[in-house]
Amino acid sequence: MKDVIIACDFGRAEEALAFLDRFAECPRKPFVKIGMELYYASGPDIVKAVKARGHRIFLDLKLHDIPNTVRKTMQVLSALDVDMTNVHAAGTIEMMKAAREGLTRPDCTRPLLIAVTQLTSTSEERMHSDLLIGAPIGETIAHYASCAKEAGLDGVVCSPLEASLIKERCGADFLAVTPGIRFADAAGDDQVRITTPARARKIGSDFIVVGRPITAAPDPVAAYMKCVKDFIG
Ligand code: C5P
Repeated sequence: MKDVIIACDFGRAEEALAFLDRFAECPRKPFVKIGMELYYASGPDIVKAVKARGHRIFLDLKLHDIPNTVRKTMQVLSALDVDMTNVHAAGTIEMMKAAREGLTRPDCTRPLLIAVTQLTSTSEERMHSDLLIGAPIGETIAHYASCAKEAGLDGVVCSPLEASLIKERCGADFLAVTPGIRFADAAGDDQVRITTPARARKIGSDFIVVGRPITAAPDPVAAYMKCVKDFIG
């Protein structure tokens, strides 16, 4: 199950597809994350184009709306045949249940569904002052993960440093999908709670989401294969 997901954070479909062209000879077909920027620029066509090339897709649109709207939107997304998608846990258990129902196809299959707990860009201070959530941030994240589990979701997006806490609270099978990955010798960019692929493996991440360490590398295929070797072995 463990895998490396490349965050294809490009503004245009042509750029994303040209980047993926570089993996034509790669011994492993990368799992690809399509986020809001690329999806809003290129729509369902980019999902279909990447799928047609045989990549698995994590469609990272982080839905957060009333349960009825989320259910109907997930019905639309389920027809795109992606492999993983997500919602904000802050939308409540009812909204997450609606998301799961909408995503489930008539034959009972569905993509993996995970929840964002607190964004890694939200500090504890801002969570207290802007969101008026008084609990410590770790407790909030663990509680949101428990709510996602209760709603029947498959896991959460979290910092790799929170993966073991999530597993303790929600069980070993509950997925920890973790961005914030850097090679030991690299700069952190705007990421704060970061770790290496090898350490993410030890802590218990199931999927690592890696953007700039691969997309901005001089040799993206070599950087990807290093992530695979360090994270999966
Ligand atoms: O370039 P970098 O490796 O920092 O990219 C990480 C990816 O993971 C980006 O697409 C970012 O939007 C996403 N992400 C994140 N933190 C979250 C959720 C998603 O960094 N909490």
